[in-house]
Amino acid sequence: MKIKTDRLIIRKFIKKDLNDYCEILQDEYDIPSAITDFNKKFLKSDYDFALVRKENPKVIGMVNLYNQPLFLYNPYSDMNSKEFSVIMNPCMRGKGYMTEAVKGIVKHTFEKTNLDALYARILISNIASLKLFDKCGFKFISKEQQIINSHEIGEVITKGITKSEYKNSPIFQK
Ligand SMILES: CC(C)(COP(=O)(O)OP(=O)(O)OC[C@H]1O[C@@H](n2cnc3c(N)ncnc32)[C@H](O)[C@@H]1OP(=O)(O)O)[C@@H](O)C(=O)NCCC(=O)NCCS
Repeated sequence: MKIKTDRLIIRKFIKKDLNDYCEILQDEYDIPSAITDFNKKFLKSDYDFALVRKENPKVIGMVNLYNQPLFLYNPYSDMNSKEFSVIMNPCMRGKGYMTEAVKGIVKHTFEKTNLDALYARILISNIASLKLFDKCGFKFISKEQQIINSHEIGEVITKGITKSEYKNSPIFQK
């Protein structure tokens, strides 16, 4: 799996990406459990994406498409769907790279896989992420108190895109 956009190559993770991966997560995450995820899951998965600039092999960001457990909110629980998780190295934010990556992954998903819908659950305070998914054609679905992870509840906006919305979206017209 390799997706090319104007400035990026989006590919699977490889072992030597581990340092770049830890740099992306920095202090916000539980690094030992993130390293376990990296070794057990990311190296094998087709739904965990490393973002690399064409001119430099360093991994600058990551996108994961998840199957959420049943107790978490999924607006498309009757469809073959996945939830987005995105994170960019703090030094690389605000340069349009994640917008480019999410558009590339949406296109890849609906052209090359059997998924029918994608969605993101975004904390209402996360302006960058709200703007990001708007720019990538995701539509507002709901706003409500939701479980964010195993120990937190917060006000969350859910946005999503189905395969048919993708096909009709001016954002994705050639
Ligand atoms: C959300 C995130 C992935 C965006 O990555 P990015 O590469 O900076 O995104 P882009 O450069 O493509 O910008 C997307 C939009 O967000 C805006 N944006 C970026 N940083 C911003 C900030 N700090 N405050 C407000 N808006 C911001 C950009 O201006 C752009 O909107 P615009 O074109 O209308 O101006 C990045 O901020 C991040 O890693 N955040 C921490 C993890 C996170 O919150 N993940 C999302 C969980 S749902």
